[in-house]
Amino acid sequence: MTTPASLAAALAAILGEGSARGPSGAMTQDYAAGETSAAVNLSAYLTTRMPATHAAVARALDEALAALPGFLPASLLDAGCGPGTASWAAAARFTSLAAITQLDNDPRFLDVARELAAASDSAALRNATRIKADLRHLPELQADLTIAAYTLAELPEAEAAAIAAALWARTTTLLLIVEPGTPRGFARLREARQRLIADGAFIAAPCGHEVPCPITGSDWCHFKARLARSRAHMHAKGATVPFEDEPYGYLAAARIRPVPAGLRILTPPRHSKPAITLDLCAPRGRAALRIASRDRDPYKRAKKAQWGSVWSGETA
Ligand SMILES: C[S@@+](CC[C@H](N)C(=O)[O-])C[C@H]1O[C@@H](n2cnc3c(N)ncnc32)[C@H](O)[C@@H]1O
Repeated sequence: MTTPASLAAALAAILGEGSARGPSGAMTQDYAAGETSAAVNLSAYLTTRMPATHAAVARALDEALAALPGFLPASLLDAGCGPGTASWAAAARFTSLAAITQLDNDPRFLDVARELAAASDSAALRNATRIKADLRHLPELQADLTIAAYTLAELPEAEAAAIAAALWARTTTLLLIVEPGTPRGFARLREARQRLIADGAFIAAPCGHEVPCPITGSDWCHFKARLARSRAHMHAKGATVPFEDEPYGYLAAARIRPVPAGLRILTPPRHSKPAITLDLCAPRGRAALRIASRDRDPYKRAKKAQWGSVWSGETA
């Protein structure tokens, strides 16, 4: 995935030349270790983290929308918006959006969200309302689509379910929660999932069912979004390859019944000479599906199967 040209241009205009040198690689590790954004270097965030979180949100949103064809939100709540990452992903997908609310408890992020949004092609994003508020004390709002991206991981795990429920109460159709693809992120998604199902949600993605999560022990459900790195991004991280893989997890909870799209592929498909094996999340549990090369048509499809997408047809 490439950062959309309009967002890349808005970022370049804010960042100027080479402003994020130094702390970016360390920052990514700090987040993975559970640090919050409170003391983050904003230019480093914009250079390296925003393109990565944008790629993850965009991919998760696309997977959710595949299960909710025809969903055209008029309003978006970007909760824990940071620089407005989820707003940019949603605005690029929905010309139907008329109202965007960006909410964060850090005024520095709200300022940069405003500055970036001014360069957007989307009138809804340019005219977004910004609210300084804490996710634990949400104001009374309603939105067709709520996205909370990379935010629950900054709060204690014990609060994840209550925050998810509060976001759900403010959502008329789809709540998308995206988290880092770490055990810490997954723990919060699992708490949120249980609570949202108890509150009547359908899970549109990644699971496509509401039975208990089959992922147990020290394992965690996550995927990877590949994104192209800009020159500044490569420079900031001292990277030698022009792309990176952002690990992420997500949960799409809907008030409308999703269209069954297939079974989520939980890990990279395993290729051997006689067969391809897919690790699938099925309603009756996690299951390995072996597709032999002699089964020509399914095998042909399995060759194209990707970690994180859905497998339809033969079931495990
Ligand atoms: C890692 S950043 C993610 C920003 C953006 N959603 C993204 O995906 O790039 C986490 C954001 O959550 C915000 N945040 C953390 N705790 C919060 C809270 N209790 N209430 C509101 N916002 C919070 C931080 O200020 C920061 O902007």
